[in-house]
Amino acid sequence: MTYTLAIETSCDDTSIAIIKDKTTIISNLVSSQQKTHQQYGGVVPEVASRLHAETIHYLMDLSLKEAKISLNDLSQVAVTIGPGLEGSLLVGISVAKSLSYALDIPLIPVNHIHGHIYAFSNYQPHLHYPALALIVSGGHTDLILMEKEGSFKCCGKTRDDAVGEVFDKIARSLSLGYPGGPIIEKMAKDGNPSAFKLPIAMKDSPFEFSFSGLKTATLDCIKSLDNPQDHLADICASFQQTVIDTLILKTLAACEHFNIHDLIIGGGVASNQTLLTAFKDRITDTSLNLIHIQPNLCTDNAAMIGLAATHLGNIDQIPTEDILVQSTFSYEH
Ligand code: KG4
Ligand code: ZN
Repeated sequence: MTYTLAIETSCDDTSIAIIKDKTTIISNLVSSQQKTHQQYGGVVPEVASRLHAETIHYLMDLSLKEAKISLNDLSQVAVTIGPGLEGSLLVGISVAKSLSYALDIPLIPVNHIHGHIYAFSNYQPHLHYPALALIVSGGHTDLILMEKEGSFKCCGKTRDDAVGEVFDKIARSLSLGYPGGPIIEKMAKDGNPSAFKLPIAMKDSPFEFSFSGLKTATLDCIKSLDNPQDHLADICASFQQTVIDTLILKTLAACEHFNIHDLIIGGGVASNQTLLTAFKDRITDTSLNLIHIQPNLCTDNAAMIGLAATHLGNIDQIPTEDILVQSTFSYEH
C-alpha cells in the first residue's frame, strides 16, 4: 500500500490531499480564500501567499487525521510547481521539500495543468489515445493533445483573457461578486441565451481562442442598457451561451482534425453544468468519449495533483527534469 500526500497552493485555494495507491482519494481538503479576495474583486497575490502559510500545516494535520494515517506512513509527496502565483507556489513547494527531506521520501513535482487533466483518473484510470483535454480555468484556456501517455502538446490557447477570468470580470462589472463563474451560471438559468447577440472571435483560426472581444462586447452591451440590473439573467445567459458556443466550435474542430478518441474537459469553468450538457448534446452523434470531471475536482484541489503524480511520476520516459521544464510554463506547439 502506498500513500501520496499532495499539496496545491498555486492560486487562492490551499489544498492537501492523500491518495491511497494509484487512484483512491482518501482525503481532499480545500481551504478557500474567496471571502478575503472577494472584497478586492480578484486575487491579491501577496495576501494569497500569507494565507497559504497560515493555513497549510493545520490543513495537513486535518488531512492525515481524516485519512487515519500518520506522517511516517507517507510514501511520497507531490506538489504543484507551476504555473501559478510565485509566492503562493513557494509556500507549497517549501512544505513539500521539508517533508520529503525529513521523512526521506520522494518529491514529485507536478504541473498544475497536468493536475487538471488527471483529475479524471479516479474513475477512469486509462485514456484511449489520441486524447484531447480542454482546460478552462481562471488562468487558462488550453487545448492539449495527448498522443500517448505522458505526452502533452498544446495545440491551441487563448491569445488574451482566459475564460474564467472573463466570467469573473463580467460578474464584477455587474456587481455580482467573486468568483463570477458559478454566480453567472446560476443567474443564466432564468435568462434567454439569445437575448443579446455577442461575437465569437477568431472563427477562422481553428484552435486558437480570444475572449477579450467578447468581454468588451458584453461590457458595451451592459453600458448601452438604461437599467442593466433589470436584464441580469438575459445578459448572463447570452454571455455564457457565447462562451459555450466558442469552446464547442474550437474543441470539436480539434477533435476532428486529430481524430480524437477521449475528450477531457477540466479546470474550474468545467464545473459549469450548462457547458457540460451542451458538450454532451453536441457529441451524441460522434464517436467521441467525453470524460467529465466531477465538479469538486474541476476547481483547484490537491487530489488532482496527487492523481497526476501517481500516474505520471512513475513513467520512465518522463524524467523529473522534463516535468520541471514542461512545468515552467509553456507547452510545445
Ligand atoms: O481551476 P480554478 O479553480 O483555478 C484556476 O486554476 O484558475 O478555476 C477558477 C475559475 C474562476 O475564474 C471561476 O469563475 C471559474 O473557474 N468557475 C466557473 C464555474 N465555477 C468556477 N466558471 C463558469 N461556471 C462555473 N460554474
Ligand atoms: Zn487551476
